[in-house]
Amino acid sequence: MVSVARVLVGVTGGIAAYKACELIRLFVKRDHEVVPLVTPSAEDFVRAQTFFALARRSPSDDPYPHLERADLLVIAPATANTVAKLAHGLSDNLVTEAALAHRGPIVVAPSMSPRMWSHPATQANVELLRGRGVELVGPDEGDTGEGEWGVGRMSEPETIFARCLDLLGESETLRGKRVLVTAGGTREPLDAVRFLGNRSSGRMGVALAAEARKRGAEVTLVAANLAVPPPAGVELVETPTAGRAALRVRARSSRPRGSTSSSSTTCPATTSASTRRRTRSSSSGRTGSSESARRRKTRSPP
Ligand SMILES: Cc1cc2nc3c(=O)[nH]c(=O)nc-3n(C[C@H](O)[C@H](O)[C@H](O)COP(=O)(O)O)c2cc1C
Repeated sequence: MVSVARVLVGVTGGIAAYKACELIRLFVKRDHEVVPLVTPSAEDFVRAQTFFALARRSPSDDPYPHLERADLLVIAPATANTVAKLAHGLSDNLVTEAALAHRGPIVVAPSMSPRMWSHPATQANVELLRGRGVELVGPDEGDTGEGEWGVGRMSEPETIFARCLDLLGESETLRGKRVLVTAGGTREPLDAVRFLGNRSSGRMGVALAAEARKRGAEVTLVAANLAVPPPAGVELVETPTAGRAALRVRARSSRPRGSTSSSSTTCPATTSASTRRRTRSSSSGRTGSSESARRRKTRSPP
């Protein structure tokens, strides 16, 4: 399983190019690193800048170092032209170059008119790709962009995304569930400088929280004095003492789905634990300030 995957998203010049925006958004929401690779024809449909903005990357980033180090290449939409080039090993743009340089799984989501899809040349190309282990998702039957009904419509981004997650060793089995994990060692102050604590690092709880998040759960991590950074994308509630941990756990067990409180933060993919701690103590209210003051007092062993 890959914790933060580097995913190359190839976009080619089909009418479904706009759907790649949603696909990129889904990967980013899951905290994966996305590198958009856009053919010149795709730019006739959606500007490359849109994909870069959604992927939170600068268009001036050099994509070449990523071509050989990615965990997954997904091409959506894949035109008949690009399917043919992939089948025959052509390499005349970033997408086709990536397909030759990349050694991991490749997902191709074709999108074309039913006539193009059913053409023997396209079908032969598709068979070549399948024979080489390339995963094809779709195309589906439906109304295509040109108003024709038949097989050729690109699968929905959610379907392509789900297949990609499977290939990355992730799944959506906890989607719609809320998971609460407690982690770390609480410290009970004896006086201003001493405390009773334990040696828990919080590593196991953090691993459990990360795994639940990967499987699509909404995760709250009630954390006491973690020795390891919390995972990205979880709601972090810092509770230095056992009493406060119990309070927070009770409060969250009865809370409606999706709500967060002022005493928690959601961990972004790029924020370090120390930055998070700084942000929390400066943004919390009176209770938070007295908590951090007490933590300052009780942090050092005698
Ligand atoms: C308006 C319009 C829509 C198109 N839609 C598709 C499409 O859905 N699928 C496809 O295979 N080609 C489609 N094409 C043709 C491709 O853009 C063309 O084959 C192009 O060379 C593809 O280049 P690329 O594969 O390098 O991106 C369309 C062309 C135009 C002008």
